[in-house]
Amino acid sequence: MQIQPCGPLRGTLSVPGDKSISHRAVMLGALANGTTHITGFLMGEDCLSTIECFRKMGVQIDLTDKEVVVEGAGLHGLGAPEGILYTGNSGTTTRLLCGILAGQPFTATLNGDASIQKRPMGRIIKPLREMGASIEGKNDNYCPLTLYPSELFGIEYRLPVASAQLKSAILLAGLYAEGQTTIIEPTPSRDHTERMFRALGVEIDTSGNTITLDPPEDLHAVDIAVPGDISSAAFFLVAGAVVPGSELTIQNVGVNPTRTGILDVLRDMGADISMSNLRDETEPACDLTVKYSALHGVEIGGAIIPRLIDELPVIAVAAAFAEGETVIRDAQELKVKESNRIAAMVSELTRAGVEVEETDDGMIIHGGKAPRGAVFETYGDHRIAMSMAVLALAAEGASRIDNPDVVAISYPGFFDTLAQLGG
Ligand code: S3P
Repeated sequence: MQIQPCGPLRGTLSVPGDKSISHRAVMLGALANGTTHITGFLMGEDCLSTIECFRKMGVQIDLTDKEVVVEGAGLHGLGAPEGILYTGNSGTTTRLLCGILAGQPFTATLNGDASIQKRPMGRIIKPLREMGASIEGKNDNYCPLTLYPSELFGIEYRLPVASAQLKSAILLAGLYAEGQTTIIEPTPSRDHTERMFRALGVEIDTSGNTITLDPPEDLHAVDIAVPGDISSAAFFLVAGAVVPGSELTIQNVGVNPTRTGILDVLRDMGADISMSNLRDETEPACDLTVKYSALHGVEIGGAIIPRLIDELPVIAVAAAFAEGETVIRDAQELKVKESNRIAAMVSELTRAGVEVEETDDGMIIHGGKAPRGAVFETYGDHRIAMSMAVLALAAEGASRIDNPDVVAISYPGFFDTLAQLGG
């Protein structure tokens, strides 16, 4: 994929549905009583992996142009799958599914692609075992994972990392446990599971950083409208902010406060971003308008990190165009995403001539000197590919992105949309 530096990006767009919410809509729809109609579902490879796993457990899921229809099997209605449940590149599918499988009366094995096989699973194995689950993983930390039938009971668990995948795996197992499940988060992570549980009639309380779940008799299906993914909108927010003369409006973007760290940081950097048409539903959403403006460096760390964890690669791109120093710290989790996103961004920004230093828990970017085009690697990581495409739009000289198809994990059609806007 060749990318030339472009003139102003202008227009209105919508981004595909939120990945985190799409996964959860299928999972909870499968466990509910009744039919779930999901609109705005993300037809990306990760969410399709979730659908395939539930189909293998006997759940009827139909896809049309307009919606995904899940015929709920009920909390105790999943069937033993034949063969392995394949989770592809999807950490959310892998970890959340483990929570559900821990409570099933059948044995199941799940595995994913080469990236999934390198991602830490010990963090879910440990609490699930404390709940009584019988679970085996390679070296007790990696896929493939096999879960055997067992009785679960509620525990109180203090999360060692602020991870919504870990929290959600425990909450999903808690649906099948005897007694209450309590989770204490170090700092709040995305709360889509909690919101959707409440919408389906599950009793769940949040007080400060403590979440308590009472196991329900059953879940009642509700229709789910998935808003656009702020993690996908992030690429256009940064592109609009760094390509001179740009003005973009992104419609119907999910702005759950546990996900909006990117808006706070870009505004801190001097970006001109406004919100309109705010709708406060189960998941709040609005339209976002970004206009080009001169950016400056900022410090990013602490409690905001889980609120923008997936956006840090493209924030690093914004930092490359920002005058002065941007420090990203407390972001060790980036090392265990689809790729090591600290190492990946440091090496790709370096290729673009950006002065950047890798640190133990992030990076320091000395921005403001025009990045130059280059041949960029993606590390098979959708967010690295899209981040470097954004950089290429405002760089000096042409760029090439290897393996651009990887964007289909979370954003099929990304490059077409970019081209329509003038990229
Ligand atoms: C996700 C949570 C985050 C995020 C991932 C999706 C989710 O991971 O990086 O893309 O849907 O729960 P962690 O919770 O492991 O940080």
